[in-house]
Amino acid sequence: MTEINARINRCGVIPVINIKKTEWALPLAEILLEAGFPALEITLRSDAALESMRLIHEKYPEMILSAGTVFYPEQAEAAMAAGANFLVTPGYEANLAAYCKEKGYALVPGCASPSEIQTAYVNGISVQKFFPAELSGGVAALKLFSGAFRDVKFVPTGGISLSNLGSYLKEACVLACGGSFMAPAGLLEAGDWDGIRALCKQVASIAKEAGRM
Ligand code: 3PG
Repeated sequence: MTEINARINRCGVIPVINIKKTEWALPLAEILLEAGFPALEITLRSDAALESMRLIHEKYPEMILSAGTVFYPEQAEAAMAAGANFLVTPGYEANLAAYCKEKGYALVPGCASPSEIQTAYVNGISVQKFFPAELSGGVAALKLFSGAFRDVKFVPTGGISLSNLGSYLKEACVLACGGSFMAPAGLLEAGDWDGIRALCKQVASIAKEAGRM
């Protein structure tokens, strides 16, 4: 396991945010780091995304940043230049996968079926986003997948909440869970940093209970 994956595995969570304002970037990164969560995925779904990554990378180089919703090589390049450690996609797409392999960029593609998992795996990708996790069979599906795909680690994302997080984190095949549950849009919009701090505490206690952190 790489050092980055080991840090992610230890805390068990990758908060995913669709950042609308660059002003959110640094306060959020600070809160997450203070609470023991060193990873953050910023989706490339807004104009603020790349600049936010740059700001965080500059001030907190220890933060593990991933760029989400990457579709094209140009986006991969922009995200890597902004400080991304790895790239996340909703599905597995051969062109982008080949591009990332050639460039040596770590790619975590969304895979939700045995065919997708196998395709990504034989193409050298052993960390995969299990997406959309809850709709694709949740923990029960992961238990079956992990029998066949012993070397694959999953990042279940999509439908993860405080109530099901613990059951995912107890699975050895789960590197970490991704999701908007730690910094939900409503709290970000309201600038409710105390609310996000409180959620981080709750998540930390769930993660500890599941043997992480
Ligand atoms: C996303 O694509 O926005 C992520 O999968 C987050 O999903 P969630 O809001 O269900 O956590």
